[in-house]
Amino acid sequence: MGGECDANGARAKLRMATDAVRRAVRTAARSSPGAKRVLVQAERAAGLIEHTIARAVPSVLQPRPRRLTVAITAHCNLRCIGCRYGRDFMVGEQLSLDEVKGLLTDARSAGIELVRLYGGEPLLHRDLPAMVRHAVDLGLGTYITTNGLLLRQKIDALYDAGLRNITLGYYGADEAYDRYSGRSDRFARLEDALRYVRSRYGSELSLQLNYLVMRPSVSLAALRAGWEFAERFDMSFHTDLLHYSLPYFTDGTEGGLKFTAADQSALRAFASALSDLKRSHPTRVRESLASIHSIPDWLLKGPGMRVPCDARTLIWVGADGSVQLCYVTFKLGNIRERPLREMLFTEAHRQAALDAFRLNCPNCHCERDSRISKDLASRIRYAASPPRAALATGERALGETPAPG
Ligand SMILES: C[S@@+](CC[C@H](N)C(=O)[O-])C[C@H]1O[C@@H](n2cnc3c(N)ncnc32)[C@H](O)[C@@H]1O
Ligand code: SF4
Ligand code: SF4
Repeated sequence: MGGECDANGARAKLRMATDAVRRAVRTAARSSPGAKRVLVQAERAAGLIEHTIARAVPSVLQPRPRRLTVAITAHCNLRCIGCRYGRDFMVGEQLSLDEVKGLLTDARSAGIELVRLYGGEPLLHRDLPAMVRHAVDLGLGTYITTNGLLLRQKIDALYDAGLRNITLGYYGADEAYDRYSGRSDRFARLEDALRYVRSRYGSELSLQLNYLVMRPSVSLAALRAGWEFAERFDMSFHTDLLHYSLPYFTDGTEGGLKFTAADQSALRAFASALSDLKRSHPTRVRESLASIHSIPDWLLKGPGMRVPCDARTLIWVGADGSVQLCYVTFKLGNIRERPLREMLFTEAHRQAALDAFRLNCPNCHCERDSRISKDLASRIRYAASPPRAALATGERALGETPAPG
């Protein structure tokens, strides 16, 4: 018992010391893009070494929460085909301002550096600006993920609160968006909101488009439309893959969003076109080439992909206050029963971090880019593009020309 306490105390001291060094290095790196690049490379190399050692000695891995994702509300103003929010997931649940403030304060003390506020639709929460202000005042990197429809009404208060980063769910262009989101005229409203944001704040706000890769959006024509949209509003381009393990997502009516083996060539063509876009626009597409090349496998093999997970760097909080290690699983408690700080670095937290690495979980594609970068076998496997022959087959199947470079 005494030995366990000593070990915990030593771990806590080591954690605080390494956090202090990381913070100092990050502050220094912020002043120079070159230094930042070196830091990112160094962190990736360290992650690769750590995961390689952990293959032999998994117990070297300890929880190291760096990123917090909070679903501040389960309400939503859209009815997307692939999502249950706003209908039958945590119906009516919402976190209060005080709950979120306490959570953020605890998170900061535990070494968390980045917080994502989302939902449901976070712009529907009237206290979102106050939450953002609290996070920014604590020195947390802060961003929201939104469908963007209410940005015209909400952006001024959010900008005043210190928000500078927004990621945005993208579900197709024009009628495809309206069809998927279950509401008419919404795509036009989204365009209007983004025009307003850009005209008012120019490049002071960083915007990222989250392109949902599902059967209706995997054609090269759909990719081209999404790319043009991202260019028009000067957004970086990121892909989210249709989920197969999250309780709040679905694969659509009669599974219509889900991929089957018959989609293999279309998926390969999509990944190949995106990989070309990454090569020609490396700053707009931030995801690594290896991660892009792995897209078809994640979507076709599902939990058959055995890439160790580094969810030990995450914490997810639901709109009902439940706390999990990751988006999908490993429940650690509920902030309505005890504060976050009492759930972190416990035996349950340590075990969850280890189980995530060993994939004793539903095994989803979350964090695929960082997982691949830390796994030597996957880095080698996905270093090369999907074969060009597959792209040609995919193009014929889709009846399209390649996406613009
Ligand atoms: C659950 S939504 C919540 C925030 C906001 N309402 C929105 O739609 O962006 C967060 C992100 O999940 C992603 N997403 C939506 N439906 C998905 C699905 N069926 N599978 C995987 N990711 C999905 C989108 O990229 C979206 O940006
Ligand atoms: S994906 Fe986002 S916008 Fe669509 S229903 Fe879910 S929470 Fe709402
Ligand atoms: S792979 Fe497992 S631990 Fe990692 S995010 Fe998915 S469900 Fe969670």
